Amino acid sequence: MKLVHSIAELQELLKGKEEIALVPTMGNLHDGHLALMKEARKHGKTVVTSIFVNRLQFGPNEDFDQYPRTLEEDCKKLEEQGIVDIVFAPSEKDMYPEPQTYTVRPDPQLADILEGYYRPGFFDGVCTVVCKLFSIVRPVSAMFGKKDYQQLKIIQKMVRQFGMPIKVVPVELQRNPQTGLALSSRNRYLDEKQLQEATFLYKTIVGVKNSLEAGALDIEGLEESAKKRLEEHGWKPDYVSVARQSDLLIPTREDLNQRVPLVVLAAAKIGTTRLIDNVEVFN
Ligand code: PAF
Repeated sequence: MKLVHSIAELQELLKGKEEIALVPTMGNLHDGHLALMKEARKHGKTVVTSIFVNRLQFGPNEDFDQYPRTLEEDCKKLEEQGIVDIVFAPSEKDMYPEPQTYTVRPDPQLADILEGYYRPGFFDGVCTVVCKLFSIVRPVSAMFGKKDYQQLKIIQKMVRQFGMPIKVVPVELQRNPQTGLALSSRNRYLDEKQLQEATFLYKTIVGVKNSLEAGALDIEGLEESAKKRLEEHGWKPDYVSVARQSDLLIPTREDLNQRVPLVVLAAAKIGTTRLIDNVEVFN
């Protein structure tokens, strides 16, 4: 496994390599990331993972400075697992040598709702860095986790609309096998008590899923009572939303009757930590 810090070094290493599979990350790797890397092996001969905490996708009051940067630990983990060939951990100067004034503005219908509503500019930052990583690494495939469901949909559409010759591979969300808590780098902000409570978010959205699968039709009612339950448990929910998997729009009565694939998405704060989670419905 090679660790490189500059675009020039990376491109030198990649010379002559044809089937590159890319796993973009912001580091602080957990089993969810490792699942992306294991999947990458099936979709390319050379597996590259990028580790870069992308300033562009953080709002002014978000946790850019506190975001855990654990490159040494991450590389140790990757070395032990032997699942990637190259770790690309560029410096900020290398990725953004000048102010990034050319940016990607994703489809507002997809990007200004849910996470994009509560984190304005977030998906512009994500798409801009992903686009840049794609043009630096030139992968044939790129892995994205379903944990960031909306991000996955937005990247799929970006790749499709720009005609990028890249296969976007969705990878299942990974949960703690005992508690069901979705694995996330932000879980490390939680104390013991909050870690136990954190599983309530998952339980709540599974409750919504079960109601839909049992035939419930009042989506707004389900969303509202889920938010209320979270509040009663001390959470500050931003949203619990039922959406169509295909375009993240609100399902119609016909969609419900036809049991088109849906997803329940949620974002809520426990203490000062904001967590997101989702479950698919009618799969
Ligand atoms: O999902 C993430 O970790 C980030 O949004 C990504 C795709 C690496 C872009 O910075």
